[in-house]
Amino acid sequence: MGLRQHPISDEDAAFWLNIRKQFYLRDDTTYLQGGSVGPSARPTIEKTIDLLRAFESDPLNNRDHGLLRPIIESARGKLGRFVGADPDRLALLPNTTMGMNLPAQGLKWERGREILMSDQEYPAVKNLFEYIAERDGLTISMFPLPTPPDSPQDIVDAYADRFTDRTCLMICSHVYCTTGLVAPVGDLTGLAHKHGALAIIDGAHALGMVPVDLAGISPDFYVSSCHKWLLTPKGVGMVYIDASFQNVLRPLIIGHNNKPTPNADRYDKLGTADLTHYAGMETAIDYQLDIGWNEKIRPYCLALARYLKERIVSDIAGSRLTIPMDTEMSGYLTSFTIEGIDSRKLMRILWDEYKIQTQSVTFNGIRAFRISTHFYDTFADIDRFVDTAIELIRTRKGLELE
Ligand SMILES: Cc1ncc(COP(=O)(O)O)c(C=O)c1O
Repeated sequence: MGLRQHPISDEDAAFWLNIRKQFYLRDDTTYLQGGSVGPSARPTIEKTIDLLRAFESDPLNNRDHGLLRPIIESARGKLGRFVGADPDRLALLPNTTMGMNLPAQGLKWERGREILMSDQEYPAVKNLFEYIAERDGLTISMFPLPTPPDSPQDIVDAYADRFTDRTCLMICSHVYCTTGLVAPVGDLTGLAHKHGALAIIDGAHALGMVPVDLAGISPDFYVSSCHKWLLTPKGVGMVYIDASFQNVLRPLIIGHNNKPTPNADRYDKLGTADLTHYAGMETAIDYQLDIGWNEKIRPYCLALARYLKERIVSDIAGSRLTIPMDTEMSGYLTSFTIEGIDSRKLMRILWDEYKIQTQSVTFNGIRAFRISTHFYDTFADIDRFVDTAIELIRTRKGLELE
């Protein structure tokens, strides 16, 4: 235990350890929970605080158009390039929850039609569309997502089987918050369109974890939170709005934006607010691009996830992965169960006594562990988690599932 060879040179290990120091994360904490909320790196926060100070020196002139607007527009442009979309098609909203509300509440739904989604969509997203269905007289068709699937085609087939001539909308996640499964969203969008339905993609976990090419995926709406894996300040999200919905879609909040405009920024006008966190987004994206998101960060994070999966399978008795091994269907989230063990109970002890931050998730009546590994984590962090979990299971009573 813990003596396994790390698949990385000493020089590379030192490099990533140094990167870890560029975060405010406490030294005594092992943070394997970036999927829920990611820590921003120091340069991002320093920049954001500098902007906040500068703003306060002249609030009236700096409001919106003065100091922050050019920085936010530059960030929107950078985000657009990062996700393969025309920045004019991106609305900046605080998070995925609010972003999903934009199409849900801003489109007119026809009574008697059906909304199709898997049973592993995010609970707030399920609640939202259940509310819309009840309000507007639609039905929800919810089906069990194969877990784990044998191939991306399994996921496509699971969706394909459920379309009817009443389906008006398909909702799917790009990366599932339950297991970490990466869905073939381009194929799913094509399927929805073939059936004359809209495709709304919940990409909360995708940005900064998997390559996102919106031009290739062609969704009607794609929504994400940038404060998870992209490590922006908190309260930064985006909604991609296909051009065909420009001005058809009613804004969430109506005010200065009540007249049609050519660009999606119409939909992010919410009145006076602190926008410095949006201005900090560009620094966050640059931070990962400068390290090398595609060339360095992604291979490192995938190697961390692979190492974790291998250790789970070979060292934790009774474990079962609920995420495929391969990197076409998985990214930086790893989920698994341990026979007879309640992940929630173990998670609490790991945090309370060892300062190891993990997550417990429930789907299909299964309670699983969900471990996030990002580039501020190290192979030693994974050893610490696995070795501590093994020791606790061996020595502690009361971890059993009830
Ligand atoms: C798949 C998914 N969708 C939506 C959300 C909501 O994100 P936010 O809290 O940033 O609105 C989450 C949050 O964990 C998520 O995992």
